[in-house]
Amino acid sequence: MTETLDIQITKTTHSRLAETDFDNLPFGKTFSDHMFVADYADGEWKNFRVVPYGEIGFSPAISALHYGQAFFEGLKAYKHADGKVVIFRPDKNAERFNKSGERLCMPALPEEIFLQGIAAVVDIDRDWIPTRANHSLYIRPFMFATDPFLGVQPSSTYKFIVLTGPVGPYFSKTLRVKIESHYTRAAEGGMGFAKAAGNYGSSLMPAKKAVDEGFDQLIWTDAKSHEYIEEMGAANAMFVLDGKLITPTAGDSILKGVTRDSVMCLAREWGMTVEERPVSVAEIIEGAKNGKLTDAFGAGTAATIAPVGSISYDGEEYFLSDPKDREFSQKVLKTLDAIKNGTEPDTRGWTYVV
Ligand code: PLP
Ligand code: COI
Repeated sequence: MTETLDIQITKTTHSRLAETDFDNLPFGKTFSDHMFVADYADGEWKNFRVVPYGEIGFSPAISALHYGQAFFEGLKAYKHADGKVVIFRPDKNAERFNKSGERLCMPALPEEIFLQGIAAVVDIDRDWIPTRANHSLYIRPFMFATDPFLGVQPSSTYKFIVLTGPVGPYFSKTLRVKIESHYTRAAEGGMGFAKAAGNYGSSLMPAKKAVDEGFDQLIWTDAKSHEYIEEMGAANAMFVLDGKLITPTAGDSILKGVTRDSVMCLAREWGMTVEERPVSVAEIIEGAKNGKLTDAFGAGTAATIAPVGSISYDGEEYFLSDPKDREFSQKVLKTLDAIKNGTEPDTRGWTYVV
């Protein structure tokens, strides 16, 4: 039986809800009134609390800042027309949270703390959930090391925090992407499969270079040969090639996305052939040239289904069809939106009611 956590609640005395512009919600800039916090010390999680969102104090020597013992998750809550609030597949994020933590030598967080912590803060801030199309409440659980010690060793104390905030679309346009053939996001044996803060830190400089060249995102390739596609920025890379849905195998250099899994599940239900396998740059470029690449998109929680308009490689740019005319990604986006927003029944157990 799942244990109910004893969560201490301190409500804000000044809600920022009324002064928040819900017509203008750039991703990740607006935070709701409260956050969930838990501490890890003496080998256990404790002090479960919901407190007003705000600054927290810690020593400048904490190991998260020096050695990068920090990782996070990203998921979303939706409000249905009847007021019901659901979170999309949080059990998958709970599972991945612990995979990330294990790789970073950080303590496991029992699923009930992850789920009940999130539910507590989503519940208290349910009025913050936007209801307009393509909007939701983004949920950002994260853990970081708090020992004030400069020796390189795993910390013995940690904090788990859940922030939330209303968001609109992460990408506002069709993406112009470049296949990266020098820099690497993650290598075999590394921590690409973990949602480690350091993975994002290392991606920034190459991604900025690409933005300076006029691209929106990078497609990462394998560290050894740069001949195989790995991921697309903060999303998994998915393609429809020759009528089949293909996506790189989620080995240890790729974050195994919840959206990726949901897209593959729907495609299989619709009778499509789905292949998780090494995807070569050569076959994607060939498909773009001969018209057999009929769909290409990034799949992620923040990104949702983000269509790729053109792919650049080795100085050449290859243009794909107009995203509006793409049968598969349009249908997937519509179906996932309908399940999340409650306009289509959830027959797969993907929504968790708060
Ligand atoms: N890959 C990376 C590097 C990401 O940051 C994300 C976003 O979370 C994804 C893939 C997609 O994962 P998910 O669908 O679980 O959000
Ligand atoms: C998410 O989709 O939740 C992500 O983690 C992307 C984020 C880094 C903006």
